Amino acid sequence: MQSQATYNYGVVRQFAVMTVVWGIVGMLVGVIIAAQLVWPELNFAEWFHFGRLRPLHTNAVIFAFGGCALFATSYYVVQRTCHTTLFAPALASFTFWGWQLVIVLAAITLPLGITSGKEYAELEWPIDILITLVWVSYAIVFFGTVAKRKTSHIYVANWFYGGFILTVALLHVVNSAEIPVTLFKSYSAYAGVQDAMVQWWYGHNAVGFFLTAGFLGMMYYFVPKQAGRPVYSYRLSVVHFWALIFTYMWAGPHHLHYTALPDWTQSLGMAFSLILLAPSWGGMINGIMTLSGAWHKLRDDPILKFLVTSLAFYGMSTFEGPMMSIKTVNALSHYTDWTIGHVHSGALGWVAMVSIGSIYYLLPKLWGRNEMYSTPLVTLHFWVSTIGVVLYIASMWVAGVMQGLMWRATNSDGTLTYAFVEGVKASYPFWQIRLLGGTLFLAGMFIMFYNMVRTIAGQKAYNAPVIAPAAAH
Ligand code: HEM
Ligand code: HEM
Repeated sequence: MQSQATYNYGVVRQFAVMTVVWGIVGMLVGVIIAAQLVWPELNFAEWFHFGRLRPLHTNAVIFAFGGCALFATSYYVVQRTCHTTLFAPALASFTFWGWQLVIVLAAITLPLGITSGKEYAELEWPIDILITLVWVSYAIVFFGTVAKRKTSHIYVANWFYGGFILTVALLHVVNSAEIPVTLFKSYSAYAGVQDAMVQWWYGHNAVGFFLTAGFLGMMYYFVPKQAGRPVYSYRLSVVHFWALIFTYMWAGPHHLHYTALPDWTQSLGMAFSLILLAPSWGGMINGIMTLSGAWHKLRDDPILKFLVTSLAFYGMSTFEGPMMSIKTVNALSHYTDWTIGHVHSGALGWVAMVSIGSIYYLLPKLWGRNEMYSTPLVTLHFWVSTIGVVLYIASMWVAGVMQGLMWRATNSDGTLTYAFVEGVKASYPFWQIRLLGGTLFLAGMFIMFYNMVRTIAGQKAYNAPVIAPAAAH
């Protein structure tokens, strides 16, 4: 085992801190747009309008919060499992500053309405070029580190991180092919239904690789570490990797059911989405079963609670997704809040929770502390955010199914039973519950920020049991 000094922790520290900071910013914007749906008068300025802030939210939580968590953990894991320091440290530092610049530029341009109009790929072409430069540098640092490893074996977490890095490069370059007309405006290189297909090939694989494969890399390192147990089945983890990356690539058309896309393409997307249940659950079970023999640790280890709960949400959202890809189910769910519920059971329950658990594992190690400043605060964070997610997703499921049923209800003479606005009115109580759930989740992030600052400052909360006066000496 090598000493800490031989690893490059500087860039890991930077990304770890920014994960928490961008988590707060992105979720705050989420809470603001959730509030705007409850109180429309909050749309008081053009740049503060729901339509401008919504892409700011998605970009901030996925690419800033999720992205920083992926950079931090992958740089840590690849060094630790390859027993070597990062390749090209200057380039690693560039990935940090370059990525922060991308985020700041997104935060300026999106509220100004500068957008390419493609969901999850809204940033305009100059920023797209910067993203490409950062991403190529990331690939060089990551694969360079793998190449100079001192171990003969490449641990499975690195396969997931590597798959994520390569695929995101491919997705970004192909989907962002565009023709610039001014510095701030470009048009897609594709037209019509091809444009939609390329966009959702990108969109779904952004879910599969940006929001899943990289986080599975986290799972394969941090769950065994925190549980103190080896991965349940290493063989299954390898099957999991190849089956998942092969299947994800074909599922994109489920976002385009009942559109101008050829029918067979939609059915193909649906079939592959159903197949996707198997590798997703294989991985989830592999993660959860890693706790075999360590279940008792769940009782008082809140970091493990975060990690295991995230896997439960991963299992839930990857069961729900294949169901929603069935055309007849999608006929009900599409356009409704059901999709928003599904998104956040994956995004908050899986992505945010596994990241939070992993960052809690990392923080004390990166600053040479024995543990977090306060473990009770981590426990509080766990419960606040779990209640928050449950309120968020349960309210959206009920609202979504209700909206779908109201929109399709017809009278005996064939006219619609409900005007659209009646569906909006009926949704209000659920949007209020979602706002409460989101606010709780955000509150948890503030608790984490406080705990992080105190941990870095080297303070330790006094958690030790109180010694009775008689026994004190
Ligand atoms: C087996 C895995 C999964 C499958 C088959 C799947 C399937 C689906 C389906 C059918 C939709 C609705 C499409 C529509 O009606 O427009 C959807 C939407 C979505 N899913 Fe999943 N899902 C899966 C897992 C996940 C996970 C784990 C996450 C998050 C981490 C996620 C994030 C999203 C997002 C962000 C959308 C909304 C896309 C948009 O319209 O903007 N999915 N998914
Ligand atoms: C405090 C936490 C959060 C709150 C309050 C929140 C709130 C919202 C709201 C209100 C919307 C718009 C829904 C609509 O258009 O009807 C939204 C969309 C979205 N959010 Fe969040 N969010 C939170 C956290 C997250 C996180 C952590 C992620 C990802 C890691 C995420 C990913 C998304 C995505 C992908 C969409 C677009 C979904 C779609 O187009 O179908 N959110 N969020």
